[in-house]
Amino acid sequence: MLIRFRNSCDPAGSEITPESVYINRRRFLAGGAAAAAAMMSGLAVPAAAQGKAAPLPGDIGKSSLSTDEVQTPFDAVTRYNNFYEFGTDKEDPARYASQLKVRPWALTIDGLCGKPGTWDVDALIKANRLEERVYRLRCVEAWSMVIPWVGIPMADVLKQAEPLASAKYVAMQTLLDPAQMPGQRRSILEWPYVEGLRLDEALHPLTILCVGLYGQVLPNQNGAPIRLIIPWKYGFKSIKSIVRLTFLETMPPTTWNRSAPDEYGFYANVNPAVDHPRWSQKRERRIGEFFRRDSLPFNGYAEQVAGLYAGMDLVKWF
Ligand code: MTE
Repeated sequence: MLIRFRNSCDPAGSEITPESVYINRRRFLAGGAAAAAAMMSGLAVPAAAQGKAAPLPGDIGKSSLSTDEVQTPFDAVTRYNNFYEFGTDKEDPARYASQLKVRPWALTIDGLCGKPGTWDVDALIKANRLEERVYRLRCVEAWSMVIPWVGIPMADVLKQAEPLASAKYVAMQTLLDPAQMPGQRRSILEWPYVEGLRLDEALHPLTILCVGLYGQVLPNQNGAPIRLIIPWKYGFKSIKSIVRLTFLETMPPTTWNRSAPDEYGFYANVNPAVDHPRWSQKRERRIGEFFRRDSLPFNGYAEQVAGLYAGMDLVKWF
């Protein structure tokens, strides 16, 4: 018998209420006592103030790849999250991710490359040029946000490891540490969370390894200290709290594809023409807006990335 669990990429009950109403209501309900509790638990204290991470360098470059659309308020970006390692409710990551120790943090790059190695995240931030990239994030649950991420082009990092000609894919892995990540003590997903990209997708100029947002060090609930942001794909590709990048010759497994292969493909390009088996992908709700808007192929980045998939059947390779 197949027992179906609701999974993180399914629209939650909160999606039924317009987001602006939902978030405002929660904020209202959460007032007073909860704010005090949050202060005591450290939730309201930014990571940097807790001495966990150095502030980002002051000279963060701007990017012509940024959108000038209205940005989603910081509060929504940092309190309405998917990070199953900390729970399945949208507010769980903001509530519980502060317990994750994000410094020091080692990122290993290995597999089919000439210079495998392990990099300290702060050293990586110091050695590379950071840029602000204001991107649309389109979640498979059919909501979207516009977020000023801060990151390093992924190509800059990967090239330092000198991938071999045989490397065709990059596998990515989140930290596995059930002591710090309570969600990993439950078998909601197969842990650790893993993702993968074709190497040309990983090297594309739009793809970044993100270390901040809104000019600040990346909050834990958003995937500190380092996560992927790949804006033309559904949000689940943008794996958080990465510890390992591995060059491979063959397509790596991915968490959501393992969990529900008919629902989540490897490519996960935003495609309004291909519905999720259980809901439409034609429209989306921008967080903070009441009316839904049309979703765009490749999340509006078709001009830059459609060529990567020329000749591919995007219904088959969803
Ligand atoms: N990465 C890990 N390790 N665990 C997760 O549960 N959720 C994904 C993605 N990365 C997830 C993850 C999903 S479904 C989405 S929509 C985005 O993170 C959400 O990113 P945000 O919370 O910063 O908006």
